[in-house]
Amino acid sequence: MNKKKEKQSDFLITGSAGFIGFSLSKFLLDKGKNVIGLDNLNNYYDVNLKKSRLKILNKYENFNFKKIDIEEKEKINNLFSNHKPEKVIHLAAQAGVRYSIQNPEIYLKSNINGFFYLLEASRKNNVSHFIYASTSSVYGENTQNSFKEDHNTDHPIQFYAATKKANEVMAHSYSALYNLPTTGLRFFTVYGPWGRPDMALFKFTKNILENKPIEIFNKGNHSRSFTYIEDLIKSIYKISLEPAKADKKWNQKKPNSSSSKYPYQILNIGSNSSIKLMYLISIIEKKLEKKAIKNYLPLQRGDIKNTKSNTEKLKRAIKISPNTPIEKGVEKFIDWFIEFYK
Ligand SMILES: NC(=O)c1ccc[n+]([C@@H]2O[C@H](COP(=O)([O-])OP(=O)(O)OC[C@H]3O[C@@H](n4cnc5c(N)ncnc54)[C@H](O)[C@@H]3O)[C@@H](O)[C@H]2O)c1
Repeated sequence: MNKKKEKQSDFLITGSAGFIGFSLSKFLLDKGKNVIGLDNLNNYYDVNLKKSRLKILNKYENFNFKKIDIEEKEKINNLFSNHKPEKVIHLAAQAGVRYSIQNPEIYLKSNINGFFYLLEASRKNNVSHFIYASTSSVYGENTQNSFKEDHNTDHPIQFYAATKKANEVMAHSYSALYNLPTTGLRFFTVYGPWGRPDMALFKFTKNILENKPIEIFNKGNHSRSFTYIEDLIKSIYKISLEPAKADKKWNQKKPNSSSSKYPYQILNIGSNSSIKLMYLISIIEKKLEKKAIKNYLPLQRGDIKNTKSNTEKLKRAIKISPNTPIEKGVEKFIDWFIEFYK
């Protein structure tokens, strides 16, 4: 038997104990793909939730988990030489907008240093496609009706967004210099079963059930492109099947650039309808058959008021875009929440 073949894995998923990493790993494992999962299981939120996700993944024979911090360069390099992942989907990061205001250094370590080690190992090991999570937060205070990939993203308003924007330009340099195919995905507020405890839908559901007040920032005047997890996962999977295409539109924006031949692209993944925060709360109340105790608060520093994903480019690339109605997605989240925490 070919030894190298035996060792090679189809996908390396970083952040595989996290919300999106878990959901994507499970989807790929169900398709029979070989997945190496990596996570440091940090305690940014409930570690038991991460361990419960991992418990499900560990049941699959085609899953191989490594507890590694992406800042551990040697371990990352060894992982790549031992398992030769064909494709890398890099989701491990310090997430969260508000946490970055008090704790910027952890973002520097995980999102910049860690990102670099993954990028460098991918280049050295001839990874066929390096896909990574960026965020809608890179659009900063963009006030246009919907956010398009070629809008200006040079003015992030928190350090989290700054690190993700840095990832996009780091990836561009690797595509240009080393021809490494890279795709940056700007996710818009992802929600659904197994979701993150620091996000609004989770906190609202928990507090309403526990008869505690919910904190409504910006007096409820926020709106978001809420993106259902299954829609996101299907999109990432379809993107992973294609080689990264030269992002002509993006590159044309750069004067005197001949960069359109680089295998580099940026894509939004978000629902094309933007939902008002107060409407989200009303759906939760309806499903729980219970009114929330509402505590209205001012706009928080670093918060973006409204986000709306333009999905034209995504549709052109993979023919689909997120379309699960918010009512259905919230219902699925709450069913999971009640079952999991019963
Ligand atoms: N959920 C969203 O709405 C959203 C929106 C935009 C972008 N993103 C991005 O998508 C990715 C996944 O987000 P998520 O919602 O699943 O978050 P998550 O926090 O649930 O998952 C991230 C995982 O990465 C792990 N991790 C963090 N730092 C690490 C390190 N240094 N080494 C190894 N593992 C580490 C964490 O333990 C966690 O399990 C992140 O890059 C995030 O910034 C998420």
